[in-house]
Amino acid sequence: MKSNVTINVLSNLEELSEAAKISFLEIANESIQKRGRFLISLSGGNTPMKLYEKLAHEKLAWEKVYFFWGDERCVPVDDAGNCYGQTKKILFDKIGQTNIQRIESELEPASAAKAYANTLRDFAEPPLDWPRFDLALLGMGDDGHTASLFPGSPVEVNSATVAVVANYQDRPANRVSLTQNVFNTARNIFFLVSGSSKAETLKKVLSSEYAPLELPAQRIDPQNGKVVWFVDSAAASLL
Ligand code: 6PG
Repeated sequence: MKSNVTINVLSNLEELSEAAKISFLEIANESIQKRGRFLISLSGGNTPMKLYEKLAHEKLAWEKVYFFWGDERCVPVDDAGNCYGQTKKILFDKIGQTNIQRIESELEPASAAKAYANTLRDFAEPPLDWPRFDLALLGMGDDGHTASLFPGSPVEVNSATVAVVANYQDRPANRVSLTQNVFNTARNIFFLVSGSSKAETLKKVLSSEYAPLELPAQRIDPQNGKVVWFVDSAAASLL
């Protein structure tokens, strides 16, 4: 295992979310203290929702937090599949003034991807064309995808964002995703992975040869950042 990678195995989703919350707050406070703001890229999907619920009750200088997304489904914000819309209900409506850079999911995917790349440019940390996120939250599908980088999707891309069509479970197919280029400049990355359905893929992602086409989660390898996997014992059962 690379020296910048840590695997935390917690007994269940509740414990996993609590541990992730504590680390989230540590990084947020350190970022605000050092740089005056905390730049975070959120994940969609079900796993992080309990973390977001917990964060809604926490004291933090939320006005110094800048929320982005690692990906978004191109559906209206009031659609149950919209990452921003779901997070607004659970978190943003509860924490008061903050800064939200949502992906304009009402646009055509290609236009939304372009617009989001422009938004990222407004926060760029030169020589990058995008911000160095203080923290990026990611999940992992049971097919090894992360954000909306799915098996078979191109590995060598030099853009910050991509428009994607992907079918996964019953979720909206048209999406916008950050590419690994952006994730791999983050200072910290959390993977939140829960449930026995992920166990086989998690073992492959963490221990098999680098296979970025089949296992896109393996593309996440920050050159100058830390990766922490928060996994529950069901997902970790084959490690
Ligand atoms: C999304 C996420 C996606 C998610 C995985 C795992 O928008 O759906 O970015 O990558 O993290 O599909 O989803 P669950 O947490 O629901 O298992």
